[in-house]
Amino acid sequence: MAETIYKASTTAPVNIAVVKYWGKRDPKLNLPTNSSLSVTLSQADLRTLTTATCSASYQGQEDSLILNGEPSDIKGARTQACLRELRAKRAALEAENPSLPKLSTLPLRIVSENNFPTAAGLASSAAGFAALVRAIADLYELPSSPTELSLIARQGSGSACRSLFGGYVAWRAGERDDGLDSKAVEVAPASHWPSMRALILVVSAAKKGVSSTSGMQQTVATSDLFKGRVANVVPAHMAAMEAAIKDRDFAKFAEVTMKDSNSFHACCADTYPPIYYMNDVSRAAVRAVQAINEAAGKTVAAYTFDAGPNAVIYYLEEDSAPVVGTFYNLLQSTDGWKDEAKSYSSTATQLD
Ligand code: PMV
Repeated sequence: MAETIYKASTTAPVNIAVVKYWGKRDPKLNLPTNSSLSVTLSQADLRTLTTATCSASYQGQEDSLILNGEPSDIKGARTQACLRELRAKRAALEAENPSLPKLSTLPLRIVSENNFPTAAGLASSAAGFAALVRAIADLYELPSSPTELSLIARQGSGSACRSLFGGYVAWRAGERDDGLDSKAVEVAPASHWPSMRALILVVSAAKKGVSSTSGMQQTVATSDLFKGRVANVVPAHMAAMEAAIKDRDFAKFAEVTMKDSNSFHACCADTYPPIYYMNDVSRAAVRAVQAINEAAGKTVAAYTFDAGPNAVIYYLEEDSAPVVGTFYNLLQSTDGWKDEAKSYSSTATQLD
C-alpha cells in the first residue's frame, strides 16, 4: 500500500529594516542587543516559496532541503534549532490527540525557491527561514500565531522573525535569557499605508564580504560607538518610527530610516578592524537621494543599506516620478527595470 505523503506550501516575503537589528546578546538563541523595525516587501517581487512534505515512505532517510534546485545543508545549528522546536510542538499535539498521525517522527523533505537571485545580496535568509518555519508549521497543523512562529524563525535568522508578518513589523528585543519575549509583532498592516514603495538598486550581486553574524560579533566586541547606539539611538528611533508610521508621516519615516542606516554603518566603520559594507556606488545613491529631496523641496525618498552595498530606496507611490524616474535616468543602461519605471523618465527631477 502506498504511504500517504503529507504536504504544505507557503510563501514568505523579504523585509528590509528601517531601524536595524545589529548585535547579538546571545548568539546561540539569536537574541538581539536592540529592537528593530522593518517594512515587508510585496510578495509579487521578492519572496521564497517553500513546500514541506513528510511521509512514512521516507523512513530511513535524513531530512533534506533543496534550495533553488540544489541540495542544501540542513545540518547547521540554526536550521536544526527550527526543526527541533517545530517537531516538539507537533509531538505535544500528538500526545494530546492520539488519533493524529505521528508526523513528528517522520523525515522531512523541504523544497524552497526564491523568485529573485539568492546571491543578489538581498535579505534572502529572512524570507527563507520564515517560509521554512511556516511551511512546516502548516504541515504539522500547529495552532501557532505568527508571533509564536516568530520565536522559532528568529533562531534560524534574526531578521526572519519579522517576515512572518506583512506591512510594518517590530521585533521586540526582550529581556529574558530564554528568549521567550524576543519576538515579532505587527505595528501596522500594509493596508494602513498602502502607498509605501521600495526601489532596490543591486549595486553588487556578489556574496557579502563580512557575514552579518561575524560583523555583529566584531561590532559588539570592539565598537564604542555601538554602546551609544544600543542605549540611546535605537530606543529614540524605534519610538519616532512607530509614531511616523501611525501618523503616515513620510518625512519623519524617511529621516529616521536614513539616520538609522547611517548610525548602523558608522558603528561598522568604528569596529576594529573597520567593516565597510557600503561602497562608492552606495554613496552615490545617498547623494542622489539628497539631490532628489532638495529638488522636490520636501523629503520624497529615503535610502537604507543592510550588510552590503545594495541600496533600498523607500518612497510613496505619488512621488514615483521624481524618485524612480530620476534613478531610471541615472541608471537606465542597467537591466531589471520594470516598464513602469521608464514612464516616469520624462517627468523626473533633472540632477546636475
Ligand atoms: O538576520 P541576519 O542575521 O541576516 O541579520 C540582518 C541584519 C541587517 O539586515 C543588516 C539588519 C536587519 O535588521 O535586517
